[in-house]
Amino acid sequence: MTLTFPPGFLWGSAAASYQVEGAAQEDGRTPSIWDTFSHTPGKTLGGDTGDIAIDQYHRFRDDVRLMSDLGMAAYRFSVSWSRVQPTGRGPAVQRGLDFYRSLVDELLAAGIQPALTLYHWDLPQELENTGGWPERETAERFAEYAGIVAEALGDRVEFWITLNEPWCSAFLGYGSGVHAPGRTERLAPLRAAHHLNLAHGLGAQALRAALPARAQIAISLNPAVVRPLTQQPQDLDAQRRIDALANRVFSGPLLRGAYPSDLIADTAAITDWSFVRDGDLAVIKHPLDALGINYYTPSLVSAATSDGPATRNDGHGASEHSPWPGSERVAFHQTPGERTEMGWTVDPTGLHELLMRYTREAPGVPLYITENGAAYDDKPDADGVVHDPERIDYLRAHLAAAHRAIADGADLRGYFLWSLMDNFEWAYGYSKRFGAVYVDYATQTRVPKASAHWYGQVARTGEVAD
Ligand code: NOJ
Repeated sequence: MTLTFPPGFLWGSAAASYQVEGAAQEDGRTPSIWDTFSHTPGKTLGGDTGDIAIDQYHRFRDDVRLMSDLGMAAYRFSVSWSRVQPTGRGPAVQRGLDFYRSLVDELLAAGIQPALTLYHWDLPQELENTGGWPERETAERFAEYAGIVAEALGDRVEFWITLNEPWCSAFLGYGSGVHAPGRTERLAPLRAAHHLNLAHGLGAQALRAALPARAQIAISLNPAVVRPLTQQPQDLDAQRRIDALANRVFSGPLLRGAYPSDLIADTAAITDWSFVRDGDLAVIKHPLDALGINYYTPSLVSAATSDGPATRNDGHGASEHSPWPGSERVAFHQTPGERTEMGWTVDPTGLHELLMRYTREAPGVPLYITENGAAYDDKPDADGVVHDPERIDYLRAHLAAAHRAIADGADLRGYFLWSLMDNFEWAYGYSKRFGAVYVDYATQTRVPKASAHWYGQVARTGEVAD
């Protein structure tokens, strides 16, 4: 059967500055926390860094041509804050803004809609030096930066995303430490989560003030699909706790203007949340024009048994430190089923579940899947062709789940594949290939995999053969 998506459904791909740009020291860019982290021995697999990445800073014209050849209608990219504002404060660097203006112009000339993410994890190191996201000032600086980018590009970019996956910035960056800046603390992730929420709210206000009325302002979350191992009360409680720390710590203030009371109770031994100041919640609840959802795999949790240590497998890399402050004794289990190269179970039902949940929780707010995709161990064959049938199966199944959600009432407006091209997969370096286009890192040659042709056909026709 062929599934037909609604007319105007937006088909694109997503990427992020540090994962693709390279040119880490060019044109006035200064280090971000990811430069510092990746250059610290032992932090990334093989010591890989984003110094060169896939060199999109220099190759964007070719890359945009490839997107256009494949039939992409949109490209979600992010701006490197320290390219635009090297110290994270004060005046902008014109050359940094010029790069993004050129990229956007190239996209528009090719008929590809730009979707701009302001923050995809690469905080200017200077702002981490003064405390990073656990400090309120970082949220204020973010709003200033948002205003600068909006002034520069607001005449040509309509789709704005403030933050990408703030959960990862807060809990992996300051809790488990598997992401930059690699801090392993208990209070810092909670403070960071609040200041990321506040950054979104203040940033959205700054964008609104600088952008034309047609601009859309969104945030991309990675809401977890948390399932209990059994229906026993202790496992249901583990599910509730992780749901609070993974989802409701963001959706509560963003959509309802309050932190959930159970989260405040669960973390009472760590904080009284007095870093939330009067007025913050009203700022955070700034109306959203769209909500971005990133989905890869569900989580399966139980209460940790008393005779063994809590399992740290939360799907984001090994750490002896927990990313779950106040709920450390929750165990994570491998969900049954086929897995991708990340070890993540393929489960498209989770995507349907999330879309329906946010349809209920954010009534009237259009939804976009701002990331979905899979890593596989792809290699060119003797003829230089890259066959990736698993990725095609993964995408087909997830698009079918998205289609089902639309049929069930979700106001889903678009889908961004993660990612068009292989790139720097954070702590996993270049070892995990998420692209529909193979990148030979030694030569920077791009080779569209079978999935690129398959997805291009979907984008051009709006149809998925089921
Ligand atoms: C989420 C992140 O936003 C992106 O940067 C990352 O590469 C993908 N997931 C895959 O892990």
